[in-house]
Amino acid sequence: MAAPRRNVELKARDPDPARSLARARALGADDHGELRQRDTYFAAPRGRLKLREQEPGGAELIAYERADAPGARESRYRIAPVADGAALREALAAALGITVVVAKRRRLLLWQGVRIHLDEVEGLGSFVELEGVAEDASDLSAEGERVATLRAELSIADDDLVPTGYADLLAARPAPDDGAEELLRAAEAAMRHAHVPYSRFPVGAALRAADGSIHAAANVENAAYPQSQCAEASAIGVMVAAGAREIAEVAVVAGQIDICPPCGGCRQRLSEFAARDTRVHLGRPGGPRRTLTMAELLPLGFDAEALA
Ligand code: THU
Repeated sequence: MAAPRRNVELKARDPDPARSLARARALGADDHGELRQRDTYFAAPRGRLKLREQEPGGAELIAYERADAPGARESRYRIAPVADGAALREALAAALGITVVVAKRRRLLLWQGVRIHLDEVEGLGSFVELEGVAEDASDLSAEGERVATLRAELSIADDDLVPTGYADLLAARPAPDDGAEELLRAAEAAMRHAHVPYSRFPVGAALRAADGSIHAAANVENAAYPQSQCAEASAIGVMVAAGAREIAEVAVVAGQIDICPPCGGCRQRLSEFAARDTRVHLGRPGGPRRTLTMAELLPLGFDAEALA
């Protein structure tokens, strides 16, 4: 088998891509313009495997190995041109599975055998990448020096270095907000209408029904204190009156504390319409939040099965 090709490369966040472009040009780098790239990563048994589909340009399959380390590091890679990108993507997806897809706009410049990539990565932001492409027999020192020179010229700070790759960064991102924020906002809006002259403890609850509709309400107190009603109970009434019977997700917001644990009675009320794995968000929109399942909030709740 032929030896892999090698690079010395470095990746960093780029706080100022316009400045990087201006400096690279001022150094005399050749500007090869902008590319759109979509890299599909597959669950390869060894190293990394991605299919790159590029506009302008075609598709290529890239197998590579690279250590995770900040600063300049060696990458060993093999590139195979691909005639039908979509067909290969589907075949590899079926055989290996896709781990992540990285979409980006890349400004490509070349300076003394070093590729300068000014990347705008969907979901991640701006990055600069330097790749010193190695000659066959090189000990990589000359490539390392050219990368170091460029790094200094582009003022790439230690703090901005990225030790991994875009695929790793995307995979490590916190899960996108799955609607919890929207539900917390609805609970907070309802809380503003709480009738709480006695406790001065406003609470809002929002329920997402199985059809996606949101039903929110607040606590309603009474001069005869035991007649007061919690926000969760009010929201259940709103949901049931709207014709829904299944709670898919819950949010509870209180005015005076960040995390308001539903009272025991309301855990029981919610469980009437929720499943064991229904998520309950306690917190504030954009603020502290704890998410628990119904089962965590109410183990061994009394349910219809107990009656049967
Ligand atoms: N409260 C709720 O509305 N939900 C809860 O889960 C806890 C307590 C209300 C009841 C009362 O109006 C006020 O908070 C103080 O207990």
